[in-house]
Formats: sequence, structure tokens, C-alpha cells
Amino acid sequence: MDDFNLPGTLHDLEKTAARHLWFHGPEESWEELTEHEGMRVFARGEGSTIWDVRGRAYLDGLSGLFVVNAGHGRREIGEAMAEQAGRIAYSAASTCSNDAAVRLAGKLSGITPGDLSRVFLVSGGSEAVESAIKIARQAQAMRGFQGRHKIIARRGSYHGMTLGAMSLTAARVEKFHGPFMYGVSHVPSPNRYHNDFGLAGEDGDLMCARYVEQEIIHQGPETVAAVIGEPVSVSNGNHVPSPRYWQMLRDICDRYGVFLIMDEAINGFGRTGKMFAAEHFGVVPDMMVIAKGFSSGYAPIGGVIVRGEVFEGFTGDGKPIEHLLTFGGHAVASAAALRNIQIIEDEDLVERSARSGAYLMEGLHTLESHPTVGDVRGIGLMCSVELVKNRETRESWGWTHAFTKDLAERIRDRGLLTRVWGVLHLGPPLVITRDEIDSIIGIIGESLTETENRFASEIA
Ligand SMILES: Cc1ncc(COP(=O)(O)O)c(C=O)c1O
Repeated sequence: MDDFNLPGTLHDLEKTAARHLWFHGPEESWEELTEHEGMRVFARGEGSTIWDVRGRAYLDGLSGLFVVNAGHGRREIGEAMAEQAGRIAYSAASTCSNDAAVRLAGKLSGITPGDLSRVFLVSGGSEAVESAIKIARQAQAMRGFQGRHKIIARRGSYHGMTLGAMSLTAARVEKFHGPFMYGVSHVPSPNRYHNDFGLAGEDGDLMCARYVEQEIIHQGPETVAAVIGEPVSVSNGNHVPSPRYWQMLRDICDRYGVFLIMDEAINGFGRTGKMFAAEHFGVVPDMMVIAKGFSSGYAPIGGVIVRGEVFEGFTGDGKPIEHLLTFGGHAVASAAALRNIQIIEDEDLVERSARSGAYLMEGLHTLESHPTVGDVRGIGLMCSVELVKNRETRESWGWTHAFTKDLAERIRDRGLLTRVWGVLHLGPPLVITRDEIDSIIGIIGESLTETENRFASEIA
């Protein structure tokens, strides 16, 4: 504790957090979050490890929340931010900009696929999704299609928590936060373990693509502005679709004049073993949402990058977008993102993610001897283990079952931070080492054995 030089005692910090800080997470009850032993207030990080104020070390198996791609403790990012803050930290986003935001926009247009070239900078993923929705609607209206306001999202999707982004998120809670934005529908998403159509393999993916066309026709193409999806959806459990799925979606959107938005909030910046996951599928979306690994969490920043032709609508006879966000293109956040991208490039973290991801998957496959491991899947350093009661029927435990909570606790007590829902998620920093991956597999394996022993009578 003293090592960290923190003001206040350990006890003070935990007590103050319990009394005054409002945790965002919906996964655990307030009591679970704030009970003494469960409290995790972090004070230091390096690479893939973080330490809490008690000095307990944890392997960060989720990069925070799929954020810290470049790893913890990157002083060079802090130094770039300090240098920027010492010169100019902020300039208004309305009619001017700053050197860091301009350099960042240029950099992004160089590394994103195809002709994605115009960058709208914001402060995070939800804001980026909100921005994409508004850009899509206004661009459609300015093309003469004022009735095109609907958005098609996918079942199991997650696109953020502000009201518009939450409207696209499948697990939205109508009774607390509804009514939601009008005109959003959710269609089946690729899932080869529980396919909505009872189809196996690629056939299931392609039926999901055909369903999107059906939905556009059903809603009326003259009412649909955009289709949005994560190239590989983490919230839906990391099902990697066939490239033909995304290529069909691209064709369908083109045929009906609908924008295709890829949400790369998690997928982007090397997470999947490519700089952007769209590259796996050979598809260029009309708009790409970026966040999270964009700055590896060193500053809050997100963005939407649109194709040249989408932006053209906002010039000439078109109207500028009415979407002024005070912190859009923040200079210090932009400097953090620029330095982060430089690290990803200099240290070949994209390639390293692909290699380490393959090694992690190998390790996870060894867990298939456990009776509750139904499926192992993923891409790059974005992997999942689907936990089931019954491998024949593939019945899930569900995220509130005592089995799931018991497993989550054992894993955490052994010093690994992950997310254990019906599916156990992994997304460690791209700098993770082989030894650390071995530790992850060891911790999950031991914890699974103990939890399975405790719940043996319920396992088919
Ligand atoms: C795919 C996706 N889109 C958008 C968001 C929202 O990002 P933020 O939490 O930064 O608002 C998230 C966050 O988890 C996400 O996973």
C-alpha cells in the first residue's frame, strides 16, 4: 500500500468508494460490489497486471473492458499527453481544431480500410454510436429520403448505454429506460452454437444475412437508414461469422440504399489480430465506430469514420451536422490516441494479438475435457468459453445461476479478472505473454474443477 504513495489509508479509500462512488456495472448488486472483500480499487498497472490498493495483484484478462490494448503503465503515452497539455489542451470543436486532432484524423484515414476518410471525434463508444445514427439519418434526409430513419441492429448486440445507443442494444430494459428510440428492430445474429434457424455452420450465418434483407423489405426500404453490427459481436459471445455473411450484408445494404455501420468499439486496434476486424471479411462499411483500444484507455476518446461520399452530402447544398460535442477532438485525448497507435504499430501488436490469440485458443481447447465447457471460440485476443449444464442440449447456466457466480469468484480469488456470464469472456492486453496465458488457463481450469465438483449433481 505504502508503495503506491496514495493519499488516505486503504480503509479510507474503500470506505469512501462504498459511500460516494457510483459504480456503473449492472452485473453485480450494490451489496456485492461494495462488500469489503469484494471491493476492488486499483492503484497501479503494468503490462497485463494491475494491483489494487491492498496490493493484491490481478491478471487483467479483460483489458479493463476490452480497452487497454497496449497494456498498463505506458509512461510514454502519459508523456505525450503531458506534452500536449503543456502546449494546448483544448480548443473548441465547433469551427476550429488543434494539431493533435488533425494529425489523428490523418492517421486514421490512413489505417482504416478502403475510403473511410472523414473522422468525427467524440469521447467514447456510446457517443460514437449516437453520432453514427445521426449522421446516417441526416445523410439519408439530405439525399431526399427523409422517411429513412429506422435502424436495424442485431439480437445479442451491445452498442452503448446512452439512450440512442441503448435503443440499439439488445439487452435494453424497457421498464426502466423505455420508451426507446422509435424504429429500431433486432434481427438474428450469426451464432453457430445456438443458431436461430437450427442451421449448422456457414448456412446459419447466411440465413442471418438473408434475414436482414427480409427485415429491410418488411420495414419498407424507404424507411430504413442503416444496419449496424459489430464485425464479431462480443456481447453475443464471439461467434465469428463467415466472410460471406458480411459480404452479403454489404450487397444488401447497397441494393436498398441503406448505410452499413460497423461498430469496432471492441474489435478495433488489433484486438482481433487485424488492425480492424472489417479486414477479416473483405468489407468496407459506410461508417466505422471506434473507441476503447483507440487510446488503450489512457484518455476517453471515440470516433466515427465515414466514407468520402457520405461526408460529401454534408457539403455544398447539404447542411452541416448539428452535433456539437464540447469535448469532440480533445487535444490531450487525441495525443494519447496518436501515441497509442504508434505503440501498436512499432511493437507489431496486431500481429502479436493474432499469435497470442492462437496460443490462448490452444489453451482454451484443453479445457474442453471439462463437462461444463460447451464451446470454445474467438478471434485474435477476443475469446469465449460457453458454459453449459448439459453438453447434449447445450443448456446454459445463465449469468445469475450460483454456478456462474461461484466460478466467477474462484477465478477472481485466484487473481484473474474476467467476465463470467453464461459465457466466460477473455480479452487481455495485446502485450500478454505466453506465461501469463498459461496462468490464465491454469486458473480457469482449477476453478472449473472446483465449481464442477460443487455443482456435480446439476451437471448432465
Ligand atoms: C460494441 C460496442 N459499442 C459501443 C460501446 C459503448 O462504448 P462506451 O462504453 O465507451 O460508451 C461498447 C462498450 O462496451 C461496445 O462494446
